[in-house]
Amino acid sequence: MGWTDHLHERCMIGGLWVEADGGETIAVNDPSTGEVLGSVPKMGRAETARAIDAAQAAFGEWSAMTAAERCALMLKLHQALMDHQADLGELLCREMGKPLAEARGEIAYGAAFVRWFAEEGRRIYGDAIPSPWRDKRILATQAPVGVVGAITPWNFPNAMIARKLGAALGAGCAMVCKPASATPFSALAVAALVEEAGLPKGVFNVVTGSASAIAAEMCENPKLRKITFTGSTEIGKELASNATRHMKRVSMELGGNAPFIVFDDADLDAAVAGAMASKYRNSGQTCVCANRILVQSGVHDAFAAKLARAAEGLKVGRGYDEGVTQGPLIDAAALEKVEEHVADMLAKGGEIVTGGARVGNQGTFFQPTVVKNATTDMKPFREETFGPLAPLFRFETEEEAVAMANDTPYGLACYFYTRELGRAFRVMERLQFGMVGVNEGIISTEVAPFGGVKDSGMGTEGSKYGLDDYLVRKYALIGGLGF
Ligand code: SIN
Repeated sequence: MGWTDHLHERCMIGGLWVEADGGETIAVNDPSTGEVLGSVPKMGRAETARAIDAAQAAFGEWSAMTAAERCALMLKLHQALMDHQADLGELLCREMGKPLAEARGEIAYGAAFVRWFAEEGRRIYGDAIPSPWRDKRILATQAPVGVVGAITPWNFPNAMIARKLGAALGAGCAMVCKPASATPFSALAVAALVEEAGLPKGVFNVVTGSASAIAAEMCENPKLRKITFTGSTEIGKELASNATRHMKRVSMELGGNAPFIVFDDADLDAAVAGAMASKYRNSGQTCVCANRILVQSGVHDAFAAKLARAAEGLKVGRGYDEGVTQGPLIDAAALEKVEEHVADMLAKGGEIVTGGARVGNQGTFFQPTVVKNATTDMKPFREETFGPLAPLFRFETEEEAVAMANDTPYGLACYFYTRELGRAFRVMERLQFGMVGVNEGIISTEVAPFGGVKDSGMGTEGSKYGLDDYLVRKYALIGGLGF
């Protein structure tokens, strides 16, 4: 098989491959060349309602299985994902642009959530609560929330689905997923493998098309009980407010503005390696990417020089070409945003250490860039660049660094490098973020809780806590026991 065997151009509803009611389609491009890879149906409310019905029907069967039965089927799905890792990775690389090695790594990362939650689903416990009555008993159990609507982003077309789907399935829920229109093929490929693995038809449905119409149906349809979203804070706020008006549970994994602090006492080479991984992973297009790099005066110049040298070692190009380590940005708007941030910095006194321009005149490639003399009035201090720009801010004291780091409405990930144990704990405790990397630039794993505070959202994905958002608590008072 090859990657094109996993490219499905119809949606999956109730185990069937279907077109949009009106036959309309959306083209999907390779961001490296702009060439059309294929198309997917442009669906709306009616098709979403049918997908919710299909999920509701499957929910009955799926939630009635024992956790061990669900676990066995989910492990088959994990195996299917890993058996097709190379091809799924190439499909992902073609539609999204990230380098092949990163794309294949993402398939393994996504599959790990399926395996993790297959196992965690067997450990959903309840309590027997000491009863205030001699003749009655109290149970507090946990039940699956029901049908879940997932709206997923283009930057991790597989893993952000798998992280939600794994938790939903492990908890006993069924799902309707609306993937990003830029990268729907990875979602449809997962749907095909869910079928192949033998999970009940309708337990995972994929609808592509109009985000506003699909989201509206998800928010208002009474059969859908929860919405999980990964994407921008702006859309997340709107979605959460619409969903909660209809009493849906919500999980929101939203934008970040991650500070990456390098103290004078840091292991500088480790800090450069961490910054490279954090900043340039996925060409800077992750919610947890270092967005503001704060460097203490004593090591500032040395760090800037080393980071620039490392950034110059990256190879920009089409993700599927040999040796490429930086792919294109997802689209022209993303490229323009990086240019706008660089221009804003230069206009306000920033100085380019390396990069700063587009690469070639085809696709959406931008040089891995380092700009120093960054100040807090520049755009990257306030906004997520979502691209390969590393702005370097200079600071003098620990207090100043912590205050600068926390000076943002966002609170997803943050990072800092130090060799002093006391400072490690002090700074870790003072940073107002959901996730902290201490001497580490990559923190994501299926076993740890992923989630933000403040405008970065609500809810936790991955880890043993990741099931909580897909479960409801149920109290039973048992009387009539005859004693
Ligand atoms: C994201 O950028 O939304 C997810 C990144 C990750 O899982 O590491």
